[in-house]
This record gives sequence, C-alpha cells and structure tokens, in this order.
Amino acid sequence: MNLNGKVAIVTGASSGLGADFSRRLTQKGAVVYGIARRGDRLAELQKELGAGFHPVEMDITDEHAVRGWVSATFTGTLPDILVNNAGIGKFGPVDQLASDDWHTMINLNLNAVFYLTSAVTPLLKKNAEVCHIVNIASIAGKMGNANISGYNATKFALGGMSDSLMKELRHDGIKVTCLYPGSIATEFFTHSGGTLHDRMMQSDDVATVLINVLEMPDNFLIDEVVMRPLFPKSAK
Ligand SMILES: NC(=O)c1ccc[n+]([C@@H]2O[C@H](COP(=O)([O-])OP(=O)(O)OC[C@H]3O[C@@H](n4cnc5c(N)ncnc54)[C@H](OP(=O)(O)O)[C@@H]3O)[C@@H](O)[C@H]2O)c1
Repeated sequence: MNLNGKVAIVTGASSGLGADFSRRLTQKGAVVYGIARRGDRLAELQKELGAGFHPVEMDITDEHAVRGWVSATFTGTLPDILVNNAGIGKFGPVDQLASDDWHTMINLNLNAVFYLTSAVTPLLKKNAEVCHIVNIASIAGKMGNANISGYNATKFALGGMSDSLMKELRHDGIKVTCLYPGSIATEFFTHSGGTLHDRMMQSDDVATVLINVLEMPDNFLIDEVVMRPLFPKSAK
C-alpha cells in the first residue's frame, strides 16, 4: 500500500505507540484520525503534525459514541486503515485483582476493538482499494506470565479475533495483521504496575514495523509479527 493520501484511524494516539504510529503515518502523507480521551495531548500532537492529523477526543469503550463518530465522520471519504492500538494492563495476583480492573481491561482491550472494527469494516468493504486492519496485541497474547492473568486473557483473545478476521476479511480485500510486541518504553507501565527495565524496545521502532507491514504489496499479507528486545534485561 502506498500510504500517501490514505485515511487511517489510530486508537490510543495521545501517547506511546499510538502517537508514534500517527507521526510516521502523517510523515508518509496519510490522513490520521487519532483517538484518545486526553484532548490536551491530542491537541499538542496536532500542533506537531499539522493538518494531516485529526484529533478525536473519545472514550472508545462507549459503543454509542464510537458508532456515532464513525457514521458522522465517513460520509464522503472512506477509511483505508484501522489500527486498534489503545490498550491497558492492570497487573497483580488474581486474588488481588479488582473486578473493576478486570472489566477495564476487557472493555478497552477487547470490547472497544469489536465496537470500532464492526463499525468500520462495512466502510472498508465498500473501499475498492486494498485496506488493512492492524491489531496491537502483546507478547502477553502468546504466553502467560504470573500476575498478569487478566491482561493475558485480553491479548490472547485479541490474537484469536485477529486470526479469525484475517481469514474472514481477506475475501473482501482487507488485510488483518496482529502485532505482538514485548516490552516497550511507554507510559503503559505507569498504569499497569509492571516494572520498567533499561533495555525495553522503543515505540518508534515498533512504528517502523507497522509502516513496513502496511507498505507491503497488495497481494502480500503479513498476518502476525512477534517483537522482543534482544536483551530483555540489563546484565547488571
Ligand atoms: N508498552 C508495552 O510494553 C507494550 C507491550 C506490548 C503491547 N503493548 C500494547 O500497546 C498498546 C499501546 O500501549 P502503549 O505502550 O503505547 O501505552 P500508553 O502510552 O499507555 O498508551 C495507551 C493509549 O490508550 C489510550 N486509551 C486508554 N483508555 C482509552 C479509552 N477508554 N478510550 C480511548 N483511548 C484510550 C490512552 O489515551 P487516553 O488516556 O488519552 O485515553 C493512550 O493513548 C496497548 O494495546 C498495549 O497493550 C504495550
């Protein structure tokens, strides 16, 4: 796909991966609708990225808001790319994990992906060009680890959903890719309770992978990519 002039929707654009995805996509000439709740952060990014970036202040766990936004926004143009990136981790032993935290993860990491994907897919089907949905899972969608059972559950589920959609939507000219990154230095760890280390991956490098996956020729589908830091922790 030549990204110049393409229309992309990126969730979780106010920080971390979503902000870097938006940067790299607009640099390639794509028009990006960047969604998140923190309007001030989106406004700062809009100043940096210019007219190609459209900030959308929205809580994507609100199904009514998501469906209303999609139908109000894409009246003339059709989207080409959907990046389901927004996600949250709430770590801890299962007997200390609050139900609210469990539901927060399910609502954002899974339910919101369904709301947006099911609302956008009919528009991607109408689009005569090859389109692309990219879901951001995690290495936690490939292997379980102690004390992250809820997060594991959402990311394994997202991997399963992606695999199903890849097989379902290829017949409509829609690629589906699931990215499974390991630790990345973002604000994620301030919300999750996980621990940072000094050899985490950088979000701009993950954004390079996204761009490479999107730019492959139309009849070349990369359905999943697993990414890890070479050295998971400092030898110190
Ligand atoms: N960092 C890692 O080590 C790592 C590793 C593997 C996978 N991932 C995955 O990568 C994705 C991006 O995470 P990140 O590392 O970039 O973390 P981050 O910096 O914390 O970004 C999370 C984004 O999600 C948005 N968000 C949260 N709740 C939302 C809601 N209800 N509605 C709309 N947007 C919402 C946040 O914006 P607002 O707060 O402004 O709404 C923020 O932009 C997540 O799916 C995460 O699970 C991260």
